[in-house]
Amino acid sequence: MCGIFGYIGPHQAAPLLVEGLRRLEYRGYDSTGIAVKNGAVTIHKKVGKVQELRTILPASIKGQIGIAHTRWATHGGVTDENAHPHASSEGKVVIVHNGIIENARLLRTSLEVQGVELQSETDSEALAHIIERELSIDNNPEEAVRRTLRQARGTWGICVLFTDHDTIVCARNGSPLIIGQGVEEMFISSDPHALTAHTQQVIYLEDGDIATLTATSVKLSTLTGGASDTKSSVLENNWGEAELGDFPHYMLKEIYEQPDAIRHCISGRLDRAGGSGRLGGLKLTPATLAKIPHVRLLGCGTSYNAADIGGLLIEKLARIPAVAQISSEFRHNDPVINPSALHFAVTQSGETADTISAIKEIQLKGGNVHGVVNVVGSTIARLCGRGVYIHSGPEQAVASTKAFSNMVTALTMFALQVGRSRNITKEKGIELIHGLQQIPHLLEEYLESQGPIQEAVELVKDAKSVLFLGRGISAPVAQEGALKLMEIAYIPCLAYPAGEMKHGPIALLEEGSPVIFIAPNDHVKTKTVSAIHECRARGAKIILIHEEGDDIAQEGDVCISVPKVHNLLSPLLTVVPLQLIAYHTALALGCDVDRPRNLAKSVTVE
Ligand code: G6P
Repeated sequence: MCGIFGYIGPHQAAPLLVEGLRRLEYRGYDSTGIAVKNGAVTIHKKVGKVQELRTILPASIKGQIGIAHTRWATHGGVTDENAHPHASSEGKVVIVHNGIIENARLLRTSLEVQGVELQSETDSEALAHIIERELSIDNNPEEAVRRTLRQARGTWGICVLFTDHDTIVCARNGSPLIIGQGVEEMFISSDPHALTAHTQQVIYLEDGDIATLTATSVKLSTLTGGASDTKSSVLENNWGEAELGDFPHYMLKEIYEQPDAIRHCISGRLDRAGGSGRLGGLKLTPATLAKIPHVRLLGCGTSYNAADIGGLLIEKLARIPAVAQISSEFRHNDPVINPSALHFAVTQSGETADTISAIKEIQLKGGNVHGVVNVVGSTIARLCGRGVYIHSGPEQAVASTKAFSNMVTALTMFALQVGRSRNITKEKGIELIHGLQQIPHLLEEYLESQGPIQEAVELVKDAKSVLFLGRGISAPVAQEGALKLMEIAYIPCLAYPAGEMKHGPIALLEEGSPVIFIAPNDHVKTKTVSAIHECRARGAKIILIHEEGDDIAQEGDVCISVPKVHNLLSPLLTVVPLQLIAYHTALALGCDVDRPRNLAKSVTVE
């Protein structure tokens, strides 16, 4: 949700800024812009993606200090004027901002009363004018930013350039900012993977931090004026391949990376002899595990769907009541928190504002939260302080695929670990481990021979809506399939537990309506088949995702089989054809697969 990149050092800033924006583009792509200081500060900005920005940039932009922004609109429409960077009236201050200034209306009105002519509809622009006003008091960039932010309410990751000072001041409150420390140069980025090409030495700003940068120094302080105890750290260097390579889209690349991603996730975390999981980062003793009264898992979007599967597995294997809840609803319902209960925050980016609020609500009420997180060192990973990294590697397509699989895998290992300490036998544990170890290979087998995906695409691509149905552990898979298709092909999709279909969604069915069923060979399969018949009787066209060698291959108009797996692991296979159907449908409809309209990969506003 908005990406910020900044540079100060001996090199020309513009190419570095544009490349930084390209890497951050998945955070928002309504508009992009850069500001470079060469004496005065020049701004270039434009509606559209980085590619569009390139078309308006002069061949050479001189200047070794600059800031850049890729926007996901919150305040004000998608226009060139509302694109960042924003300059102050006299042009002495230029800012980029990520987050929401909640008292922007008040700040804007008071600026207008003072005669400032605002150029945009954004909340961010107000900050530029106020910083300039504050700068006129003592010509101290850091203090001007500090005094300004003390007047603001809301969230920010902000970078500020000054025409009269060779420095960048940045600050964080709720929106991530990371400083990359190079040799006689500094970088600033909203997320670590735009930094890895330049340096491994980083400082993750904490909420309330202000950093004043020159090419050779970082001065950290806090909003209140004291010293900050934020420390420098080293980025992991085996984060994975972030470039597209030979794939046409990141989404397809990431679908194909699932076997290896799962290999990374399970590596060293399975106790084959004991039939258990070995997730050390959870820091849970057997005594604590034995006393857990219930488990709650929180997430948004795809992460919620993975959490839902995790909840079912925990309940099944560990016999502890477990539920997944949507993060954005959580704190507003004044939830009761039992400090002995286990809470998981499930998130790819580790920056989702709704999930952060849910974590804070739990922590405020005395509970502990464990992260199930992909991005190492992200806000949620640090806020939780304990948990499981899912090790998917960089995921850049907005529609999540390999992170989903690894979240499910990590939660399966957790369910196994608790299950073994409370309920299931060693033999059952070993059986599940064996199943998990086979998954990467089975996924590769499926990806080699994907079945009639194009036939499924033909059935859904012109549909008014598509219904996804599954039971038990396949109900959240249906949910995930529907989310994927809706996100990237813009087709209205509904997902329901298959048994619930007759209580409402059946009313939608008419001759030719596509219904996608997920029916692995488990104990609810025959019930799902009844729902297939009920849909067929109303003229629906059935796309059936099922297991090789079962007895239902004749039940669908289009049947896509996946390799046979342990019953509890079927989501890791059945989700893949759904990802492929979404991908190929979006392509067939000419949609931007990796950058679907209105969405952003990392949603850092509530
Ligand atoms: C956004 C993305 C989704 C993602 C969700 C949760 O809505 O578009 O793909 O599943 O955020 O993100 P997280 O980073 O917390 O997993």
